[in-house]
Amino acid sequence: MRIIIEPDAAAVAVRAATRVADLIRRSPACVLGLPTGTTPLAFYGELVRRHREEGLTFSRVVTFSLDEYIGLPRHHRANFTAYMRRNLFDHVDIDPANARVLDGRAEDLLVACESYEAAIREAGGIDLQILGIGSNGHIGFNEPGSSLGSRTRVKTLTRETLEANAPSFEDPDEIPRLAITMGVGTILEARSCLLLALGEEKALTIRDMIEGPITAQVPASALQLHPDMIAILDEGAASRLLRRDYYSSGRHKS
Ligand code: GLP
Repeated sequence: MRIIIEPDAAAVAVRAATRVADLIRRSPACVLGLPTGTTPLAFYGELVRRHREEGLTFSRVVTFSLDEYIGLPRHHRANFTAYMRRNLFDHVDIDPANARVLDGRAEDLLVACESYEAAIREAGGIDLQILGIGSNGHIGFNEPGSSLGSRTRVKTLTRETLEANAPSFEDPDEIPRLAITMGVGTILEARSCLLLALGEEKALTIRDMIEGPITAQVPASALQLHPDMIAILDEGAASRLLRRDYYSSGRHKS
């Protein structure tokens, strides 16, 4: 895992957007896996800016969203598809048919999960999976205890996750208890992974992910197994790393 520590959130966004833009320029029909959350907002903003000002084109890019709430109305602000439209899809030249999302209102969720996995395979697999991290160590909605080989499926959300995501809802009773998410195994199959984390409130989780044992209790720790995984952190998120100085010294890649 390669660890990059940037001074602040804006620098994290620029660094991540540069990696994605380089990939798109090298490989215009690349396949991206995309997360939601507050962490990637500035990163999406930077991609939109590069599209507008630097001609970065998404015309052949294919994207797969990482997760989605179950049962939330499609127009709801907290719906992850609405989030992706608001923050990226509506502002770049992506072909809507290539912006694949999980359907949290599918009549048969099992079929929806299986066809998502099939669609990823048919697209040739994910070239770059971008990730955030939950304070409890989840990636996507793979909550602690998720099998490290899991595939796209329905997960029950933990209390911590419901509390963390509550600000997106006006009425706490509206928050779905279930979500649909790519599995840890699905994520690990991406050719490369890029995880972004911001702020001291993520610092202990980041330490567990990078320096702790690989365990289903911290699903993000499975990324230690990935051969091409980069974590881009701000100073706050990196602040509890035991080997912080080592990661910052030279061109370390482990
Ligand atoms: C959400 C999403 C994750 C995201 C995480 C962190 O619930 N399911 O994909 O990475 O929680 O969100 P934030 O970036 O807002 O801290």
